[in-house]
Formats: sequence, structure tokens, C-alpha cells
Amino acid sequence: MKTKNLKKVLLASVLSLGLIFFIGCKEKGDSSILKLSHNHATGYPVDIAYKKFAEIIEQKSEGKYKIQIYPSSQLGDQKASLELAKSGVIQFAHINTAVLEGFDQIYSILNLPYIYKDYEHYRRVMDSDKITEIFESTLDKGFISLIYIEGGARSIYTKPRGIKSPSDLKGLKIRVQDSPTAIEMVQLLGGTPVTLNFSEVYTSLQQGVIDGAENNMPSYVETAHCEVAKYFSLTEHTRLSDILAIGAPFWNSLTDKEKQMFRDAAKETEEFFAELWEQSENKSTQRAINEYNSTIVKSDISLFRNLMKPMHDNWANREPRFKELIDFIKSLENE
Ligand code: GCU
Repeated sequence: MKTKNLKKVLLASVLSLGLIFFIGCKEKGDSSILKLSHNHATGYPVDIAYKKFAEIIEQKSEGKYKIQIYPSSQLGDQKASLELAKSGVIQFAHINTAVLEGFDQIYSILNLPYIYKDYEHYRRVMDSDKITEIFESTLDKGFISLIYIEGGARSIYTKPRGIKSPSDLKGLKIRVQDSPTAIEMVQLLGGTPVTLNFSEVYTSLQQGVIDGAENNMPSYVETAHCEVAKYFSLTEHTRLSDILAIGAPFWNSLTDKEKQMFRDAAKETEEFFAELWEQSENKSTQRAINEYNSTIVKSDISLFRNLMKPMHDNWANREPRFKELIDFIKSLENE
């Protein structure tokens, strides 16, 4: 059986199993078990954040809701997980803003290279009412975005050489997420984009299917990609967020008071995570250098930034709502 077909059959089985689980998800004593799918290993900062979220929800709901976490893509990749949440088989799906582009293109704007001046700018944007509005605008598409988990700056890591300037990317196959902006970015920089799921990156690097990838430092180290790709070049091209999405069937079943409880728990989780992330970035950088002997390359960011500028104008010209969001983001640059 071809891998794609096999995956479909497996997914269908998970789906029907999930339906059975969901039908039987009420515990004795009226607790409901909610299912959350993500693609990181147990103990990775994102997993810790979701555990915290589960704790807050259980406490705030006085035991009415318990969240069961399925890590390591056990329930499928990001897209498949969101589909499960959309259809009500599970309630929560972790999905990066890159992959969300396939569900609503407004997310492309948040992922444009160098759209944020720095970390503070990124936080101002993500904490704004405008973003909350966008997060809740996809209900008719079957889900809303509840929590954003900051993913730091993403940079390029490679096997054959460091990437000081875009010309160093010439001829290199770089893995990206299934995201039109990431594909366009690598093409503009002169590399060849290859779309793969997160779980496929390690083997693809090892087997030479790709020459590199791009991600934040904790993902580079905790997945052991740094064992194979020794150069981590500080291009810091995007600041993507991981999103915890809630499926519409579950969201629509909640009272207004409960919806507010989930929103409040989301805010608490975001604050809790910010500190955790900073520590994790520092720890992973030390591990990359000291344990794995990675070379950290200082890239000439201005060269990358200049090549990416046309992307901002091109996207602004595509739809008025894109231009409005780009203008809004730029207006928060110097607060
Ligand atoms: C980060 C992010 C994941 C995402 C991954 C990727 O690790 O936290 O949610 O899947 O990047 O590049 O696929």
C-alpha cells in the first residue's frame, strides 16, 4: 500500500476510534475528558505549557473539564489534528501559524519574514485586540485559535556550510512547513524549498533528502537535528507562533461563562510560557555549542531583510484585509 493511502487508512481508523472515545468521554462524577493533540515530545516547553493549561482548566472548572494530552503527533500531524478538532473527534489541536495559512490566508501576514522589528514588537502585535479578533474569526471554518505560544525567532540550519549571506543558500534544499510564505521566502533567497512534516526532518537530513531546515533553537536541539546539521545560522527571518486551536463543535457547546474561562486560562498560559521559553532558548543554545559542537554563524541579516521586503508589498496588494493587517503591524513598530 502506498504511504499516502496507508496514512489515510490509519487516520480513518483513528477518526472512528476517536468518535467512539468522544461518545464515551464523560467520566463518572460528570467530568468531561477533552483531547489535545500536539507534535512535540513530552517535556518540550510546548508540552509543559499545555500541561499547565490543563491544570488551570481543571482548577477553574472545578473538575468539570480534564484535558488529556496526546504528544508526538500520535493523533496525526498538525493539519490532521486540526481536522479532528474541526469534526469534534478531539477538542484541541496544536498548529503552527505556518500551517494555518492553509486554513485562512490571513495567517500568512503574521508569518512574513522580518515583519516584526524585534521580540517586543512581536509581543505587542500578538497581545493586541486585533489578533484576538482574527483568532476568533474562523469559527465558520470549524475552529478558533485560543492560545498563542511564542516560537522565538527562526533561523536556518544546514549540513554543508553556514549561511552568512543569501548566496550561501544557492543549490541547497531547505525543509519548510507547508506554508506559502515559507516556500516563497526560500525561493527568493535562492534555495530550493522542500515541504515536509516536522517528524520527517531528522531522517530527511540524515539521508540527504534535504540539506537543511529552519526553526528555532529549542526545536533544532531537542529533536537532535543538530546531530546531523552542524551549522545554525542566525538569519532570524520569522517569528512564528504555535496556536492551540479549539474545534467549533466543542466551542459552540460552551456557555458564555465557560468560553470566558477558556480565554482567561489561555492568557495565563501565554504569560507562563514566555518565561519558560526564554530559559529554554538559552539552555538549548548552550547544549548546541557544548554538547553537539554546533557552529553558530552570524548572518548578515540586512542582506536577507532587503531581499524579503518585496514580499510585504506583494502581500499587501493581494487583499485589502492583508494590507490593513500589515499597516496595523507596522504601526506598532515603535511604541
Ligand atoms: C516548531 C513548532 C512546531 C512546528 C515546527 C515545524 O518546532 O513548535 O509546532 O511543527 O516548528 O517546523 O514543523
